[in-house]
Amino acid sequence: MRTYLVTGGAGFIGSNYIHYMFKKYDNEIRIINVDALTYAGNLENLKDIEDRDNYTFVKANICDRDAINKIFEENDIDRVVHFAAESHVDRSIVNPEIFVQTNVLGTATMLNAAKKAWELPDGTFKEGKKFLHVSTDEVYGSLDDDPTAFFYETTPYSPHSPYSASKASSDMLVKAYMDTYKFPANITNCSNNYGPYQFPEKLIPLIINNALAGKTLPVYGDGKNVRDWLYVEDHAKAIDMVQEKGRLFETYNVGGHNEKQNIEIVKTIIDVLKDELDDSDPRKANLSYDLIKYVEDRKGHDRRYAIAPDKIKSEIGWEPETMFKEGIRKTIKWYFDHMDWMANVTSGDYEKYYEKMYKNK
Ligand code: NAD
Ligand code: TYD
Repeated sequence: MRTYLVTGGAGFIGSNYIHYMFKKYDNEIRIINVDALTYAGNLENLKDIEDRDNYTFVKANICDRDAINKIFEENDIDRVVHFAAESHVDRSIVNPEIFVQTNVLGTATMLNAAKKAWELPDGTFKEGKKFLHVSTDEVYGSLDDDPTAFFYETTPYSPHSPYSASKASSDMLVKAYMDTYKFPANITNCSNNYGPYQFPEKLIPLIINNALAGKTLPVYGDGKNVRDWLYVEDHAKAIDMVQEKGRLFETYNVGGHNEKQNIEIVKTIIDVLKDELDDSDPRKANLSYDLIKYVEDRKGHDRRYAIAPDKIKSEIGWEPETMFKEGIRKTIKWYFDHMDWMANVTSGDYEKYYEKMYKNK
């Protein structure tokens, strides 16, 4: 039975990936989920699978070399899927150092532990072992509004935020391991994800949460920044397909020609919510575009991200499957049906975060 070590599996994409993998492979695989449970990690995301015999959770920091080595010593790990990271651009602007620690040093720790466990005396690696580093399209920098310009795997790195700089550094480390040691790895650079279990500091769940609470909907700058949105399950599928069918040492961009201006996203959420809520629901009364508030722009705000997923399509046969119209409805419905999840993650520290980040906005 193949054993996966997933880092950051209690976060947004990691927990969706674990759900996807058990749905697809059921008892054919074993998953060990290593997560430090920062503010963004939530075991509630995995409640329905936590009792499986082929699932284990280990609370550990990826920077803790001894803890990570121990996992490799005690288990014959076949695949690493490395999600664990500090992931929010706004937080990276306020506190960059933790991004360097987790994203750069944590990735170095993971690479070293896997190399130590998998390397043979002659410097080659055990058959079938693979490390997948999950990264972002933000490493490529920012595109202008020219609709024919896209990020390709060959686009030079040009990160702007401390978050994207730390992810770019971690990508470079993975590339260095591949080039220097022929370490068996792949990198995926994905566009913005949306879907269930996303922490409401990110645009889509934040807007859903605020709209349902009748709060203002903060839109940075002119609202015309563009992101290329991908439904999270499509990303999970891409990661699995890259590990199954990708060529080792290659990078694959993952995204889906689904560019939207932020203001379009906010208006769509309002429209869908109005559609979904009963007329008798008091939350519907205040719901209108009047809640939109243009606020001070993010510092160094990247204008546009857009992926051309040509390589992953032609080499691996992956394409996004979920149309935005369907995905955003499914997502909103999920938050609707999980108001207790939202209430739990937005109590305590989140309230303090929101007060601090948006107090002058
Ligand atoms: P997230 O913030 O929701 O989850 C991160 C997870 O990592 C949490 O469970 C957290 O507890 C854990 N973690 C953080 N620091 C840790 C540490 N030091 N040790 C162990 N665990 C730690 O993030 P996400 O949105 O799920 O993103 C997952 C990965 O995908 C990240 O590497 C991110 O850069 C990348 N990515 C995200 C997006 C996106 O749109 N969210 C897009 C492309 C790539
Ligand atoms: P975000 O979800 O933080 O993802 P990223 O910065 O990694 O792309 O933000 C998506 C876009 O939405 C980005 O252009 C910033 C913008 N934004 C707002 O306008 N208001 C908000 O309150 C937030 C969190 C983001």
